[in-house]
This record gives sequence, structure tokens and C-alpha cells, in this order.
Amino acid sequence: MDLDQIKKAASLEELEKIRISLLGKNGIITQKFKELKNLSAEEKKKVAKELNELKEKAIKLIAEKKEALEEEILNQKLKLERIDVTLFNPKPTGAIHPITDTMNKIIDFFTKLNFSVEVGPLVEDDFHNFEALNLPKYHPARDMQDTFYFKDGSLLRTHTSPVQIRTMLKQKPPIRMISPGAVFRRDYDLTHTPMFHQVEGLVVDEKGKVSFANLKFILESFLIHMFGDVKVRFRPSFFPFTEPSAEVDISCIFCEGKGCRVCSQTGWLEVLGCGVVDPNVFRAVGYENVSGYAFGLGVERFAMLLNRINDLRSMYEGDIRLMEQFK
Ligand code: DAH
Repeated sequence: MDLDQIKKAASLEELEKIRISLLGKNGIITQKFKELKNLSAEEKKKVAKELNELKEKAIKLIAEKKEALEEEILNQKLKLERIDVTLFNPKPTGAIHPITDTMNKIIDFFTKLNFSVEVGPLVEDDFHNFEALNLPKYHPARDMQDTFYFKDGSLLRTHTSPVQIRTMLKQKPPIRMISPGAVFRRDYDLTHTPMFHQVEGLVVDEKGKVSFANLKFILESFLIHMFGDVKVRFRPSFFPFTEPSAEVDISCIFCEGKGCRVCSQTGWLEVLGCGVVDPNVFRAVGYENVSGYAFGLGVERFAMLLNRINDLRSMYEGDIRLMEQFK
């Protein structure tokens, strides 16, 4: 019997054919086992031993060959996909990362409406991140579970809302600002990463000049600008820094509101938080006789919806195959 043919197999398919021809239901070795019954007791013992050894040898050789072939396939694949990032390329071939791209689209919409773009520090203190935003000492958002704290009590900002406070403290009303940037929370799964991005918005003017109706109009226009022809709905909600507060949904862009897996059969996708600025926030920054509205959104959520990306983590893995789709 020719076990050498196993070593010569050129592909996994060929190897499988050989395996069947030897060990399959009608394979040569199987057949020989069946013929044992025609032998005398003494011969049977001897031949059976040889056959068992042969069978074991064949199984071992096939397994070894399989592993070798699989490794060869993998190496070939790796060789094909190898990219030398140090090679000089006269034509830039990069792509804008979907998060940057989405961020730019958001910023573009608001700067055209005369909103300023403000930034704040990533390492914040309790006052700007919580206290001034009417998040009292016992508020669950301060929990160690959510917030990265430093030993001295400072923290990585958990949202971009502290930039509201910083902007109000250094400027006088009227204010029309957005604040894009990275935020941090202790979370990691399909839809959460410990670092992600938000855009905060704040409009403040003399009392009576800014209303929920203005907020509604701006956000509806914004969401239609981002997602095209969608329905927008405001749902009552709670945030410590706004009263009244709302969460904003758009009709599901995947099923057009009919109900699908992405929108959990509701027909709606939650995309924003917003509300009328709570008087306690104005009190914390020493503003009087003003009214305002604020909103906050997660950029990753927008980027995932706009580009139909279903695992948030894939956006941070730096896999060139993802980026190549955005050229
Ligand atoms: N800061 C909120 C968060 O991180 C988002 C937010 C909601 C900001 C409502 C706002 C707002 O300004 O009015 O979840």
C-alpha cells in the first residue's frame, strides 16, 4: 500500500480524496479490515495487528500533511496581504477615518450656522465634569464603574459637557458653540469602547430668546442633513443639566421605520440627548436672566449608522481592509 501518496498531496482537496480512498467507508484499509473474517484465527491476529498499525500510520501522516498544507495556505495569504508601510508612495493613498469624516460633517453643519468650535482638556476636575452640570455628589454617573479617576481626584472627562461650563465661564452670552472631542468611560463591548467621541452643543441668549422650539428646529435640520430623508421624534427623558430633557430618535435608516434587527423592531434609532439648560447650571457659572438649550451626541454611533459598521471596536483596530473601503 502506498502511503507516500499522502506526502505528495498538493492541496487539501487532494488530501481529503486520498483519506477517503484509504480510510473511507469503502477505502482500501477499511476493506481489508472487512476481509479479516475470511482468515484463520492465527492469521487474523497477525494481519489485524499490521492493519491497525497501518491505519494509525495513515491517520498520523494525513494529520501532519493537513497541518503543513494549512500552514502553507496561511503563509501564502499573509504574503499576499503584506503591506510595507515604509515604502515610498508618490501618490497618497490614505483614507479619512470614518470617525474623522463624521466629525467633520457634524462640525461643518454647525459652523455654517455660526456656532463656534470650543475645546477643553481631556483631564477634567469634578467641578467642570459633574458639579457645575448639576450632577450631585451621589449621582451614579460618578461611580468608579464609569469614570476613570486619577489619584489626586482629577478624572478623564466622561462627556464633552464640561466644555459648556468652561465656555460660559470665559465668555459672556450670547453663546452658540459646539465642542467635539474624545471622552472616556470604563466600558468595553460591541457598542462601547473606553475612549469615544462626542459633540456637545450649547446656545445661550437673553431670557426668552432661546426656546425648546429653536432646539427642535436646529436638531431636526441637523439630523436630516446627516441622514437624509428621516423622520425625527423627541422623547421625554432626563439629564441632570437640562430641564425639560429629551432623547431624539430618527426613523430607522435600515428598514425605513418598518422594524428590523438594528432598531430592535421599533422602527426608531436613538441618536441624541438634549434639553433646555437647567437653571442650576447657569447658577454654577454666575449667569442671570438667560435661557438656553444644549445637546450631546456620540460620534461613533453616527459613524456606525452612516457607514453600516456593526462592531464599534473594528474602528480602532487599524485594519487596513476597513480603511480601504473609505477611499
Ligand atoms: N452629556 C450627555 C452624555 O454624555 C449627553 C448630553 C445629553 C449632553 C443632553 C447635553 C444634553 O448637552 O443636553 O450622555
